[in-house]
Amino acid sequence: MLVIIGKDYDGMSREAANIVADRIRRKPNLVLGLATGSTPLGLYRELIRMYKGGSLSFSKVITFNLDEYIGLPRTHTQSYAHFMQENLFKHVDMDPHYIHIPDGLANDIDAHCEWYENEIQRWGGIDLQIVGIGANGHIAFNEPGSSLGSRTRIKTLSQQTIEDNMRFFKKKDEVPKFAITMGIGTIMEAKEVLLLASSSNKADAIKAAVEGPITAMVPASIIQMHRKAYVILDREAAAKLTQQYEQR
Ligand code: GLP
Repeated sequence: MLVIIGKDYDGMSREAANIVADRIRRKPNLVLGLATGSTPLGLYRELIRMYKGGSLSFSKVITFNLDEYIGLPRTHTQSYAHFMQENLFKHVDMDPHYIHIPDGLANDIDAHCEWYENEIQRWGGIDLQIVGIGANGHIAFNEPGSSLGSRTRIKTLSQQTIEDNMRFFKKKDEVPKFAITMGIGTIMEAKEVLLLASSSNKADAIKAAVEGPITAMVPASIIQMHRKAYVILDREAAAKLTQQYEQR
């Protein structure tokens, strides 16, 4: 696990973007796992900048998003499909046929989850997976207590996640209570994992994930078992770490 501490949010985003861009340049048909949330926004902005500058193309890239809320249509402003469209896809040369996001309106959710897993395999598995971290240590929507071997499935959101997400909805009861999420086992099968965290409200989760014991109560701690993982932080998210790490 390589921990890299950027000077600030922009520094962290640039470090992450350089890794993603490097992998796309080496393998134009990269299978790229994508995350939502405020944390990867800077990374996506940087990738868009590279595309507009002519140094990066997404035309052959295949993407798989980590998760989606159940019950929200793709057009809902808070759906992750909408988020990806607005914050990355519509600004670059992605082929819409290569975009995969779980369908929050699927009739048979179990069958859809199985299809999603098979689809990842059909494309040869995820080469590089981007993940954020919840303040409670969750990755994607794998809340504390999730099986460390779990696969894509439906999950009930924890009270803390519902409260964290409330800021995006008009009323508390509009916040979805269920999501489809890649499992921890699915994420761990990616050839490389890039975990991003910024700001002080993630410092406890990062301390637990990077230096604490591996436990299902801190799903992100499984990253310690990954063969090729990068943890890219800003100084605030790294503030509670006690070991020496690469400062950029
Ligand atoms: C949601 C997403 C996660 C994300 C987390 C943190 O729960 N499902 O994938 O990592 O939010 O979001 P933010 O980056 O906004 O703190």
